[in-house]
Order: sequence, then C-alpha cells, then structure tokens
Amino acid sequence: MRGDYNGIFLPKSRVSTNVLRKRRICTMFRLLYCIVETGSVSYARFFSSWIVMKLSLAELRREYSAHGLLEEEMDPNPLVQFKRWFEDILNSTIPEPNAMILATSTPDGVPSARVVLLKGFDERGYLFFTNYDSRKAQELALNPRAALLFYWPEVGRQVRIEGRVEKTSTQESEAYFRTRPRESRIGAWASKQSSVLPDRKSLEERFNQFNQRFPGEEIPLPPFWGGYRVVPHAYEFWQGRESRLHDRIAYVRRDHLWQMKRLSP
Ligand SMILES: Cc1cc2nc3c(=O)[nH]c(=O)nc-3n(C[C@H](O)[C@H](O)[C@H](O)COP(=O)(O)O)c2cc1C
Repeated sequence: MRGDYNGIFLPKSRVSTNVLRKRRICTMFRLLYCIVETGSVSYARFFSSWIVMKLSLAELRREYSAHGLLEEEMDPNPLVQFKRWFEDILNSTIPEPNAMILATSTPDGVPSARVVLLKGFDERGYLFFTNYDSRKAQELALNPRAALLFYWPEVGRQVRIEGRVEKTSTQESEAYFRTRPRESRIGAWASKQSSVLPDRKSLEERFNQFNQRFPGEEIPLPPFWGGYRVVPHAYEFWQGRESRLHDRIAYVRRDHLWQMKRLSP
C-alpha cells in the first residue's frame, strides 16, 4: 500500500535518504583520507577530517554570498526558482531541509507561528499536513491566508512565501497518510493537537488505546486530519551578502503574471 502515490509528496525517506547517502559518502572519503595520510585509521585524523567536511558547507555559503542574486539569473517563475534552491538544499547535508515556519493569524490580526514540514510543492501550491482541529486550523478556517518561511543558515538563504490556503482532498490526505510510519498514524489519532492535556500519561494512554483499536497496518485516516496547500501570490528570495548588503528579490503575482523586484536589504 505504501508508496502508491504518484504525486509530489516528499516523504521523510526521500529527504533523509539523500542526507544519509551524502553522509555515508562523506564518511567513506574521511576514512580514505585518514588511511592515505597516515597509513592507518587514527581517530584524531578521522575527527579532524570532519572539520574538512564541515568546511564544504562554509565554502558553499561563501560562494553563494560572493556571487549573490542577479535578476537575469533568477527564473521568471518563482516556483522554478524555489525548486532550484530547494534541490541545492536537498543535495546538501543540511538537517530537516523541509522544515518551514508557518504563520497564520486570527481575523482580527493576532498572529501565531510554528514549524511544519513541507511535504510537496508544485504549481498548485506548498503542501503540509496537520490536525484540522488545531489552533492553526482554527485560524485558517476563519482567515485562510498564511505566510511560509524557510531559513537555511548554513548557506545564508531565506525564502518567504505568502498566499491563500486551501484544504487538500480527502483522497490526497489518505494517500499521504498511508506513507507515514505506523506509530505516526497512531499518533495522529491519539493527539487532540493544541488542546490542553492534564499530563503526559494521558497522552500515552490514548496512544495505547488507539494502538489496540487498530492492531494491524490498516489504520484509517482520522476525520480530523489532513493537508493544506498555500497557494502563493508573493515570494521573496534572500541571499546574505557581505557588509549587510544582502540581496532580496521579490516576486508579486499580478493578473496571472509574476513581476520581479529588487528590495533594499
Ligand atoms: C521540525 C518540526 C516539524 C514539525 N512538523 C509538523 C507538521 O508537519 N505538522 C504539524 O501539524 N505539526 C508539526 N510540528 C509541530 C508544530 O510546530 C506545532 O507544535 C503543532 O502543529 C501545533 O501547532 P498549533 O497549536 O499552532 O496548531 C513540527 C514541529 C517541528 C519542530
């Protein structure tokens, strides 16, 4: 049943496999480096080579910040530009590359923000999954607008996205729910997200209850759980540069066309 969805989900395995593959390759190179240098594996050498590996991210950051953002090199479509940046991040060793801050607000303008995981993106928008009774969901029900923020300090980059928010179809939520590990699916049933709990024990008891209720692999989608898409009308790509002269390239959607502007840092 798992992996039968042909859409744009970024399941955890896709993200962590990339990172794990990179780490494994780096570890092999570090071992080789130690053997070539000393003829044997010395722990001191092994750990000092870790610094060399870390430097490569610093190198990437230096390269990006020296080169900066030029309008003529940015894609006219911000989705394509985001894809480029996101692929760079996926191919690096940056942990949790798909963690993003989601900001929502009440209709009278009281904001709230939290981290969620990006689970896919395409021309329809940026996808995440959550509990439909949570605080964020209650705010989105009354004010279906949100801002997303990605910050990757290792490469000095930030992306801001703003847009309206819509729920995914039940089929799409089901398809994603099936890809989650069993414990996460039981956890989704057990958590009345954002509500007050008397203590930790009561959460664990709820988890055990649902674990017994759904003993096998077939766990239905909870009716209070599913996805949202942020459909962007504005983007900003930020690249940290020397002397605080950072680059900021913003895109705003007007009449189905994207306009690009440079903003002062
Ligand atoms: C790295 C990270 C990833 C998270 N991913 C999600 C997620 O994908 N969906 C979700 O509902 N909560 C996620 N959370 C928990 C949220 O930050 C938050 O605590 C929860 O959604 C309740 O928020 P709310 O009370 O404002 O609705 C994540 C937290 C962290 C730190």
